Amino acid sequence: MKTLAMISGVAGAVALLAGCAGGPSRSEAEYRQLALDTIKRDFQAKGQAKFERLTADDVQQACNAHANTPPADLVIKLTGAQLSTIKLPADDKYLGDWKEGEKLAQSGRGFTWSDKADQPAGGNCYNCHQIGPQESSFGTVGPSLLGYGKTRGNTPEMQKYTYSKIYNAKAFNLCSEMPRFGHAGALNEKQIKDLVALLLDPASPVNK
Ligand code: HEC
Repeated sequence: MKTLAMISGVAGAVALLAGCAGGPSRSEAEYRQLALDTIKRDFQAKGQAKFERLTADDVQQACNAHANTPPADLVIKLTGAQLSTIKLPADDKYLGDWKEGEKLAQSGRGFTWSDKADQPAGGNCYNCHQIGPQESSFGTVGPSLLGYGKTRGNTPEMQKYTYSKIYNAKAFNLCSEMPRFGHAGALNEKQIKDLVALLLDPASPVNK
């Protein structure tokens, strides 16, 4: 089952509510507040799904305040700070098991109140990306990653970039819609390595 993970879901819900609210025209900030108030009124914290998820960090606040195009100096400052959050593997190895990576890419599980907090979450990648050639059901919010390793090359630099991009997409594109999987603690080092292998391993169906 593929469900949009809560990490990215709040921003979408805010945009949706802002689009639906009727009445006299309000400023964007007022719509945003109205949407947040509505979510806070109707949302019930349960299990691991807590209210803290509604709190935007400095990156999300900057992107919200500037319609996803903050001024250049702010982008440079925040992007640098996001880059410094990326923890690279201590063993300097980036390629895990692509078969495990495919399972993670398929799974949208995790972070709902009914998920156990200690159970590993999925990556939910197919919700936004085309990846393997055999999967015909995928989202198009992100670019197609089919043939990713064939076109990019399986170099150490590309492995490091791909790991880092999955760890924290906003370190490369501040207002990216892609969740920050490592940064948010949604995926661990081994899981990210398995996803890197899915995208870059020459044996992965992605590169056949
Ligand atoms: C909510 C949508 C969304 C999800 C879920 C998502 N991505 Fe993305 N991804 C994007 C978007 C949008 C871009 C392009 C913009 C950017 O570069 O940030 C992107 C870009 C990328 C890139 C960079 C491509 C390039 O050409 O450099 C990689 C690699 C990637 N995603 C891998 C993944 C993997 C692996 C997963 C699952 C763990 C995943 N994405 C989940 C939206 C998503």
